[in-house]
Amino acid sequence: MLIDAFSRRFTYLRLSITESCNFRCSYCLPNGTDCESRSGELNLVEIRRLVTAFARLGTKKVRITGGEPSLRKDLTEIIAICKSVPGIEKVAITTNGYRLARDAQAWFDAGLDAVNVSIDSLDADTFHLVTGQDKLADILAGVAKARAVGIKQVKINTVLLRQHNALALPDFLDFIKSQDISLRFIELMRTNDNTQYYKNQHLSGESIQQKLLATGWQLKAKSSTDGPALEYYHGDYQGRIGLIMPYSKDFCADCNRLRVSSQAGLYLCLFTEQQQDLRQLLQNDDALPLMQFLQQAVLGKEATHYLHQDFSGGTRHLAQIGG
Ligand code: GTP
Ligand code: 5AD
Ligand code: SF4
Repeated sequence: MLIDAFSRRFTYLRLSITESCNFRCSYCLPNGTDCESRSGELNLVEIRRLVTAFARLGTKKVRITGGEPSLRKDLTEIIAICKSVPGIEKVAITTNGYRLARDAQAWFDAGLDAVNVSIDSLDADTFHLVTGQDKLADILAGVAKARAVGIKQVKINTVLLRQHNALALPDFLDFIKSQDISLRFIELMRTNDNTQYYKNQHLSGESIQQKLLATGWQLKAKSSTDGPALEYYHGDYQGRIGLIMPYSKDFCADCNRLRVSSQAGLYLCLFTEQQQDLRQLLQNDDALPLMQFLQQAVLGKEATHYLHQDFSGGTRHLAQIGG
């Protein structure tokens, strides 16, 4: 088992497979990234060994992240490898949706259970402005395809932005009225690269929470492998609305996840200052040394992130670690 000093159990691995991204979201990579180099990305053997060690320590869910995971040509194989490891019950990806329409079938066939897609606006011009890509229609087609091929869980991520989508709740509600999709509003997090942007655009999720509660939405119970979103449901809607509020009290109290970067770095928190290099331990087929290392490392996990202290840890942007 992976248990930390605060008795939190870690059953969810967020595995980043590349730092590269082809989008330029204004809160994440507005000027591109200096980590375009793809060298040193975890290879398939390292991924299998890594996921095996985590699974033997109780990990049940792997979420493949990036950067943009579909920029890796071997993504379908990575999904299949993760799914084939004994103990892994659920394989998910978080994507900007760029390759979703094209590849959803192959990913599903490889064992993908769930996909989270970033859509910050349902207005094509605003989407273009925020992401640097004029691709809203393609991404929506990808979402429809993912559902059509049978991927069980499809979620949409919308970062709350004062200027771009603060007033768009009715549009998002219309969107999920008759679609079984969870749409989550994420509070913008401060990173080292977006300090000024954060000051201008950050909005608390509380106003949305209040509107939902005032109009009959109810809080759904969570399972142990669920992420940090508080999900709300309503009898008149097939979809659900989620809120991810990292600035709210006790957000980290039930943290259930650990992160490994595409460069084999173990990150105990999204906003940690340090990473621990797993590369050497991944060169051997014997899982035990890696398992022992992970069990020891996890004891160093801190109780919470530093976001409340106007501090963003070592994280330059979320593409670096996979969000
Ligand atoms: P699922 O339940 O697996 O869908 O998880 P998720 O909602 O965490 O996954 P996703 O990759 O879609 O992340 C949504 C948002 O939550 C992103 O902005 C992440 O950066 C943020 N997030 C995920 N985990 C954490 C965390 O441990 N701490 C903080 N501060 N933010 C997180
Ligand atoms: N704050 C909040 N969410 C962010 N994302 C990327 N950067 C940030 C940030 N600074 C979101 C993306 C994607 C998810 C993985 O993280 O929009 O949906
Ligand atoms: Fe790419 Fe995601 Fe960052 Fe947007 S938020 S630039 S899609 S990694």
